[in-house]
Amino acid sequence: MVAPGDKAVKTLEHKVVVITGAGSGIGRALALSALKQGANVALSDWNLPAVEETRRLADVTPGRILVRQVDVRSDDEVGAFADLVQSKMGGAHVVVNNAGVSLSDAVGSMKREDFAWLMDINFWGVVRGTEAFLPQMKTRDEGHVVNISSVFGLIGVPGQSAYNASKFAVRGFTEALAQELEGSRIHVSVVCPGGIKTGIVANGRHYQTANGEATTTEETAKKFEQLAGTTSERAAEIIWKGVMRNDARILVGPDARLIQAMVRLFPNTYPSLVRTGMALSERLRGIRM
Ligand SMILES: NC(=O)c1ccc[n+]([C@@H]2O[C@H](COP(=O)([O-])OP(=O)(O)OC[C@H]3O[C@@H](n4cnc5c(N)ncnc54)[C@H](O)[C@@H]3O)[C@@H](O)[C@H]2O)c1
Repeated sequence: MVAPGDKAVKTLEHKVVVITGAGSGIGRALALSALKQGANVALSDWNLPAVEETRRLADVTPGRILVRQVDVRSDDEVGAFADLVQSKMGGAHVVVNNAGVSLSDAVGSMKREDFAWLMDINFWGVVRGTEAFLPQMKTRDEGHVVNISSVFGLIGVPGQSAYNASKFAVRGFTEALAQELEGSRIHVSVVCPGGIKTGIVANGRHYQTANGEATTTEETAKKFEQLAGTTSERAAEIIWKGVMRNDARILVGPDARLIQAMVRLFPNTYPSLVRTGMALSERLRGIRM
């Protein structure tokens, strides 16, 4: 048994850190930051040129980075990557299940194919990554599982039912796992970022706004660029700090802290505050344009 507060991963130096979706945004920033802190990293993404670019940006000795094309929708690919990390790097100390996509549409008009696509990546991708790497951590009774949820795993938002479902599911899965691992030296964090300036919206599928109006991915991405207030680099800094502290929940950005406070204080009436917030940001956007 481990004393409460015992930290399994106190530093990233010489640790093996696995990150999915490391070809862009938060995943890339986490990888570059982990390397700076002395970790060896195993990076995957379904977009091979993008994750190769992360390797190029890191500019460290080849032995410290393993890069592979992995689609988190495939049990076989995720399993083979875990085997490779075991054989080439001695197994994972930290796994960050980060790969994700976005979708905006309303219940009723949303295509089942789009909903299933998102769940397979955002939720089942997290489950696959956790299941594949957990045995390596259990063998040495040391490690940290970091699963990326969202503030949309804390509140529901119109037009985001699929994304909300995936991120609430990631949070529930992760909070249950944390309790299953209590007393071991394997720690678990769920990360809830607010708006982070990344390609998450530009890389997604967007058909309807929160107000139910037709939109395009390009238009939604433009709006998101103006709303997202935190850089990926700052997000990575906050996430690694939270992991070192063994925080069960890591909130990223002032908007995330505000949203958590709002949902705690007003669990029944927060939707009207969300509507007011959205109307206000629309108005501010109009002023800025
Ligand atoms: N950016 C935000 O505002 C924000 C807020 C809350 C949560 N998040 C979450 O953070 C995580 C990272 O997103 P980001 O904002 O850096 O977006 P991003 O689009 O910049 O990066 C996501 C990465 O995941 C990869 N990916 C997508 N599907 C994949 C698959 N099937 N297999 C392997 N890789 C795949 C993409 O190629 C990309 O490199 C996601 O889970 C996202 O939901 C982001």
